[in-house]
This record gives sequence, C-alpha cells and structure tokens, in this order.
Amino acid sequence: MTIRVGIVGTGGISRAHQRSYMQVGGFEIVAVCDIIKSKANEAADQWGVPRKHVFTSYNKMLEMDEIDTVSVCTYNQGHRRPTVAALNAGKHVFCEKPMAATLPDATAMVRAAKASGKILQIGIHSTFNPRLQFAKKVIDEGMLGDIYYSESAACRRRGNPARTFIYKKTAGAGAIVDIGVYNMHDSLYAMGYPKPVRVSAITEDYISQQDPQFRGIMDVEEFGVAWVRFENGGVMVFKISWAVHQDSLGPSFCLGKEAGISLNGPVVYADAYTNDLKKLVKSEGLTAEANPPEGMTTIQFSGFKEVNVWQAQITAFREAVKADAPSPIPPEGVFLTNVIMDGIFRSHESGKEVSVRVPEF
Ligand SMILES: NC(=O)c1ccc[n+]([C@@H]2O[C@H](COP(=O)([O-])OP(=O)(O)OC[C@H]3O[C@@H](n4cnc5c(N)ncnc54)[C@H](O)[C@@H]3O)[C@@H](O)[C@H]2O)c1
Repeated sequence: MTIRVGIVGTGGISRAHQRSYMQVGGFEIVAVCDIIKSKANEAADQWGVPRKHVFTSYNKMLEMDEIDTVSVCTYNQGHRRPTVAALNAGKHVFCEKPMAATLPDATAMVRAAKASGKILQIGIHSTFNPRLQFAKKVIDEGMLGDIYYSESAACRRRGNPARTFIYKKTAGAGAIVDIGVYNMHDSLYAMGYPKPVRVSAITEDYISQQDPQFRGIMDVEEFGVAWVRFENGGVMVFKISWAVHQDSLGPSFCLGKEAGISLNGPVVYADAYTNDLKKLVKSEGLTAEANPPEGMTTIQFSGFKEVNVWQAQITAFREAVKADAPSPIPPEGVFLTNVIMDGIFRSHESGKEVSVRVPEF
C-alpha cells in the first residue's frame, strides 16, 4: 500500500516532510498547495508532482480522492483550517508543531479528529528520542512512585528565528509555542499526561527589544516561565528561551516519592538500583552503571540506538495509517500543551495565577 500525500504549505519545513516521506518509503507526494502559486509550482517541480495537482486552495486539493493523508506545513496560525478540512474530508493528517497557535484552534482540531476517526499526529519529533522513550518506561513501570514535582526546560542563549516565527499574526506566540512545545510535551508525555488545573506565568522580550533586528518588529515573547499545578497535586515548572543571559535553564527532570529521573540522560536517582530496573535495562538491551553500586545511587544508561527522530515519527505515522491505528502521539495529550500555553498568556496578562480547563472530547 502506497500512502498518497497532499502537502499544504510549501515553505521551509515542507522540505523535511517530503525528504522524510521519501527516506522511510511507502509514501507518494501526489498534490501540493500554497497560497503563493510560485512556491507551490517550485515544490511540485522538485518533487515530481504534476502541475495539474498544484493548488492555491486546500479545499480544492482535498477534493482529490487520490489523497490519503495531508501534511499541514503552514505557519502556526494556519494549522487549524486545513487540518479540520482535511479530517472532515476523510484524510489522515500529519500537522506541524505546535498543534495550534490558540486554544480554540487546538480544540477544533481535536474535535475534528475525534469526529472523523482519522489520525491527527502532531510533528513533535523529540518524543521519538529513544532516551525519552526509555525514561517514560521507567516512569510507567512505577519506579519513581508518585511524581510530585518536575521541571521542563530548554534554552537558546541567542536563537530568535526570523520570518513568520516572530509575528503574532502568523506564529500566534514566540519561544513558548515554537520550541517550548517540545520539552513541555515531552515532560507531560513522560509523566502520563497529568491534567493541568492552574497556571502562573511570565513571558518577556527584553533582549530582542534591545536588538535593532527585532526592536519594534517582533511582537512575540522570547522567554517564558510557568508554574503549572496538576489535578493530581503535582507541580511542573516550565522554562524556555530564544534569548537569555545564560547557557542553560537547567535539565528537565521529575521527582517521585521513590526515585527521581533526569529526562535528558536519562539518569535515575534512587536509594537502590532495584531488580525491577535491572530487568527493564536488560529487556531494553541497554547497559547501566550505578554509582555507588549499593545504597543511595545514581544510575546512568548506555547502549541507546541512534535514531533519526524525523524518520521515526514518519515511520510511526505510516504504520498507524496502514493499521488504521490511533495516532502514535495522542492528540488529546498534545492538546494539554495548548491548554497550558493559553494559561501562560492569560496569567502574564493578568499578573495572577489562572485556572485552566481540559474539556471532555
Ligand atoms: N519540526 C520542526 O523541526 C520545524 C521546524 C521549522 C518549522 N516548523 C513548523 O512548521 C510550520 C511552518 O514553518 P515554515 O518554516 O515552513 O514556515 P514558512 O513560512 O516557510 O512556510 C509556510 C508556508 O505556508 C504557506 N501558507 C500559509 N497559509 C496557507 C494556506 N492557507 N494554504 C496554503 N499554504 C499556506 C505560506 O505561503 C508558506 O509558503 C510552523 O508551524 C513551524 O512551527 C517545524
């Protein structure tokens, strides 16, 4: 079975989609769409798509019965409409991260996925890192006990993107939705998607507004910090920056009542290297070093396969489409990032902690 793909938005990231589809195999790009006709034509010519299947309207493109799945590669504010239209037209969707620029957009997308029964996978490729997958297994096996605190952090000291990424009109927001979505999602995913209930946050753009390249032009945040309370009583501190006077805002980690884990290694901090963990290490084909070997110990792991996360996410999408299986990353899980982000911006605006609500789907 060859999966026939239509790509909406033929800008920068559509190249990575096309390349990954070709690398993993089992896909054919059959149609392209961009509101800028010349960009769509150029992509079609490069990818061997006939000019009769080049569109400037995704609704027209979606009339093609020959399309099985749609890649949504528009800027953040443009994710909702083509995604909902494609799902309503009975196509599976692979949509770029973040899920959406706003909470109402994300809500509409998850509702459409549920109503259609089609796959909606959001391109959070970092989730396919084998180290994170192993950390999740350690947590899922209950080795940490209840998690009462976590930090989710990533940092660029100077790394503002340009173009459509720095305007609210196209991106919706800045560093938080652009790169924060990766570590925020991956922390939530590792913890089993705890339900957020309250958020207190600040967002800032001090450094960018000192830079003539961005001053008065960029209208999104470069930095964000949030304190997120979950229904289960746990708390997550979230930190992200495109620009900051530090090299690091710290690692992402979880503190459980039985043990702690740093997600980036991963590294487990426990009072003993348990037989259960030894068994998991063996079954995963890894090796571990516990220092000291007895008593309160720090356990580091090696032997992870190097994985191209782009190819891994597209392979997972292909297998889900072929098996008519659920999305490899549940859209309701990714949706929580939009719930928290909405809380972050409302909290910054009001200067107060705000309530957030996760609807039933
Ligand atoms: N996963 C990653 O590593 C990664 C990296 C970069 C960007 N992204 C994401 O990819 C998305 C696009 O980023 P980009 O750098 O390719 O942006 P871009 O601005 O280069 O491309 C977006 C394209 O979408 C087109 N477009 C906009 N609205 C449209 C519509 N209604 N119908 C058809 N085409 C439309 C634009 O004309 C443009 O060509 C963003 O959501 C971004 O967050 C992901």
